[in-house]
Amino acid sequence: MRTTINDLAVFLSGNKASKPILFVHGFPFDHTMWQAQVDEFSRDYFCISYDIRGLGELPAGDGQFTMESFVDDLEAIIKELKLNNPVLCGLSMGGYISLRALERIENRFSMAILCDTRSEADNNEGRFKRAAGIKRINKEGLALFTKDFITNCFGDVFKQMRGDDLKKIIEKSSQFDPVGVKGSLLAMLSRSDTTVSLGKINIPTLIICGEQDALTPPSIMKDMFHKINNAEFVEIPKAGHMTPIENPLLVNKSIRDFLTRNKL
Ligand code: MLT
Repeated sequence: MRTTINDLAVFLSGNKASKPILFVHGFPFDHTMWQAQVDEFSRDYFCISYDIRGLGELPAGDGQFTMESFVDDLEAIIKELKLNNPVLCGLSMGGYISLRALERIENRFSMAILCDTRSEADNNEGRFKRAAGIKRINKEGLALFTKDFITNCFGDVFKQMRGDDLKKIIEKSSQFDPVGVKGSLLAMLSRSDTTVSLGKINIPTLIICGEQDALTPPSIMKDMFHKINNAEFVEIPKAGHMTPIENPLLVNKSIRDFLTRNKL
């Protein structure tokens, strides 16, 4: 079922009385990147996914986004749906939003799943790259930027075996409002560093990382894992940055084992 909260497209699946899992997607994707997880977990959990402001099918508005405004949106969804301590599951930019949400409102969540993400803010090199991306979109339009960015997100096996799926994902993201994509780049560029707060996370946390993740490699995610008290780490073999799409079976199994171990 689709609903609108705070002008955002929000997608609900499963029984509302079941324990909620709130999925936050990466950049430049939309809620459909969690399809395999929603299909699996809506059998016994209440799954909520949404399109982050500026990404997806809706117009982006003014594109003046910050990580803070993304967390405000997440909080609005939790409040509006009266979600009772959802499991928070974010990938990459969705992970940045999740990590900042854990700093601001950890008591709202029962567990966290952080996929292919990092707690560090962008360094100068990263900021220049984002700025170059914005310049490129202004000059060439969105399609070429999207093609290069998304291709780099996937591991070799997916690129070789599932070229048609990759093409469809790129085509979809190329239809987004460029204002929203640029706004998301600015929000990531200006986000704060959440590393100092990792030691304060008190809820069970699962960290998932693709073995071939070129953007947030296992070495970075293992550092995060060591800084969080009650964390578990799973590496997904032969997968890149988009583990939930690249190896949904293993990602789903890891999530289910984690939920079961923590009696949820
Ligand atoms: C994402 O998948 O959300 C992006 O790769 C994050 C980023 O560019 O830092």
